[in-house]
Amino acid sequence: MADQLLSTVSHHSSLPDTYVRPESQRPRLHEVVRDANIPTIDLGSPDVSRVIAQVGDACRSFGFFQVVNHGVPVELMLAMMAVASEFFRLPPEEKAKHYSDDPTKKMRLSTSFNIRKETVRNWRDYLRLHCYPLEEFVPGWPSNPASFKEVVSGYCREVRQLGLRLLGLISLSLGLEEAYMVKVLGEQEQHMAVNYYPKCPEPELTYGLQAHTDPNALTILLQDPKVAGLQVLKNGKWIAVNPQPDAYVINIGDQLQALSNGRYRSVCHRAVVNSETDRMSVASFLCPCNSAVISTPEKLVVDGSPAIYRSYTYEEYYNKFWSRNLDDEHCLELFK
Ligand code: SIN
Ligand code: FE2
Repeated sequence: MADQLLSTVSHHSSLPDTYVRPESQRPRLHEVVRDANIPTIDLGSPDVSRVIAQVGDACRSFGFFQVVNHGVPVELMLAMMAVASEFFRLPPEEKAKHYSDDPTKKMRLSTSFNIRKETVRNWRDYLRLHCYPLEEFVPGWPSNPASFKEVVSGYCREVRQLGLRLLGLISLSLGLEEAYMVKVLGEQEQHMAVNYYPKCPEPELTYGLQAHTDPNALTILLQDPKVAGLQVLKNGKWIAVNPQPDAYVINIGDQLQALSNGRYRSVCHRAVVNSETDRMSVASFLCPCNSAVISTPEKLVVDGSPAIYRSYTYEEYYNKFWSRNLDDEHCLELFK
């Protein structure tokens, strides 16, 4: 029901019980490390072998990095954020047209994560779109705001180019041919989650999105440049990812963990909320096509490092992922 959306209420004076996490699962915000950061990589650097080495290091140590000089025009990043914010400010009856909690829908506005499965809600509304091929999906996208289709489709095109380039660098960093990942992943799907986290009366008791790993291959996240919220798990500690102007946050998803035979990690991350301001983020996901067979590259099966995961199709993986609760253990465990 669309009246479940957080963004239809203008002011939340207290946190409803359905959002309150049990004591042992709360974010403990005072323990978060705020002065460390994930690596930043300059993709405009002419020293390509250094960039490849930096990508490899970041994927091994954090599973996360930020990129600058990434080629996506800054105006387009700003326009994407602006149209997203306009969308969430539309009147409730306008947003209600797009509401659904069915995860198989290819365009939907929803709340929390998967309200059909979860027991405690997340303080988040999101618009989820399938975005490749664009000709197939754009006609079904919201036509209000009026510029939505044009801005978002232009944005998706640029982000895809960046994603394919990153997959090339990641392949090279593993000692594979540049086109390796792109070939295995096939005619990749691209999805997008436009996240809106309203300011929250009791941020210590809940999440914007609880700890999880991403089921796809690669995630390209545009963060609100002024409001931090993303945190990454490293050696048992949560590290705040401070937004950097004009940068993207990149992370390895479960499929690249499998395809790197566990050398690169799909790391747990979460989004927290705050009582001062709303926060937005736009996550773009490059996903294997459904029929892609994910199996360990022969080159990465060497003495002392046998294949960790059995081979499977992405369709099999994705169905398992959505049939679970986000709180369950790493979905890849099921494919060992
Ligand atoms: C996510 O993991 O998709 C959420 C990231 C964020 O909002 O920062
Ligand atoms: Fe995520």
